[in-house]
Amino acid sequence: MSIISTDISRAKAILEQNDLVAIPTETVYGLAGNIFSEKAIKAIFETKKRPFFNPLIVHIPNIDYLENVAAYVPPKAKQLAEAFWPGSLTLVLPKKPNIPDLITAGKNTVAVRVPKHPLTLKLLESLDFPLAAPSANPFGSISPTRAKHVENYFKNDIKMVLDGGPCQHGIESTIVGFEGDDPVVYRLGSIALEDLEAVVGTLPVMNKKEQAPEAPGMLNRHYAPKTQTVLVDSVLDEIKKHPGKKIGALVYQSSVPEDLIDFQIVLSKNGSLNEAAAQLYDALHAMDTQELDVIIAERLPDHGLGKSINDRLQRATVNA
Ligand code: TXA
Ligand code: MG
Repeated sequence: MSIISTDISRAKAILEQNDLVAIPTETVYGLAGNIFSEKAIKAIFETKKRPFFNPLIVHIPNIDYLENVAAYVPPKAKQLAEAFWPGSLTLVLPKKPNIPDLITAGKNTVAVRVPKHPLTLKLLESLDFPLAAPSANPFGSISPTRAKHVENYFKNDIKMVLDGGPCQHGIESTIVGFEGDDPVVYRLGSIALEDLEAVVGTLPVMNKKEQAPEAPGMLNRHYAPKTQTVLVDSVLDEIKKHPGKKIGALVYQSSVPEDLIDFQIVLSKNGSLNEAAAQLYDALHAMDTQELDVIIAERLPDHGLGKSINDRLQRATVNA
């Protein structure tokens, strides 16, 4: 029997029993549980096989709720929240003492956002607690952008996927933290850097790659298909390096000749970076089912969402 359903009241009942429900957001599907339930939060880490040092994002119903979660909101955080919530921006802020250490991995900050999906907003408004929700995929693998992707990963582990259709944006939220009152980008994502900068001015992008990174979404290998993946400027040149191999081409706008490859996905024929972002993970999921020897991915233009997409593709190329 399928665990996919559109029944919000059932999702609410399961969450109130401190069990998990996968929820739709505009970015990717999340694996959600009550932030105040140790049972639920432990189940999130266990289901994902996620290390406990990797903290979770707290999803709240509206901007006013922020005061229950954050101990201090810098002026630029407030400006960003007002500009982008509900939406794909996660803010990392000093936490209130009642936010459990399991959520924040013992840090004194908490990551928080108001997602923009009508079903999930309705669900959040009906609950007495916020939802912790990491992306609903096993740690390190491709994030789910359809209910079916989550079912494929977790059908034996969770009771329900709330079906909200394909995710509109398709890559994770942009994460912004603060050094004092100054914003810093911890993870590139669904909101383009340029759009944030239009609100708060120039923003540094942190790109640490050490053992305990600020945001483990910045770990080198992450968002990765099982198939070996390379990221290149010229797909045609790369194809020549893999004679006799079963090749999948993941290209931005223009297809490569069919006889040179075995499988191909064009992310956006019209050259829309929004469309390319929305298609990206679905394309990687599809590539992984083709039993290819190699995925050759084309680097996108390095501006707007192209920067965020290239970041994800880069992490998809690191060998396990
Ligand atoms: O779009 C999204 O953000 C999705 C949807 C479901 O909301 N969620 C998501 O969660 O991508 P997850 O767990 O896959 O990524 C959360 C990232 C991790 O890289 C984590 O390290 C970082 O947020 N994070 C969480 N709390 C943090 C904190 N206190 N300080 C720094 N980074 C934090
Ligand atoms: Mg994730």
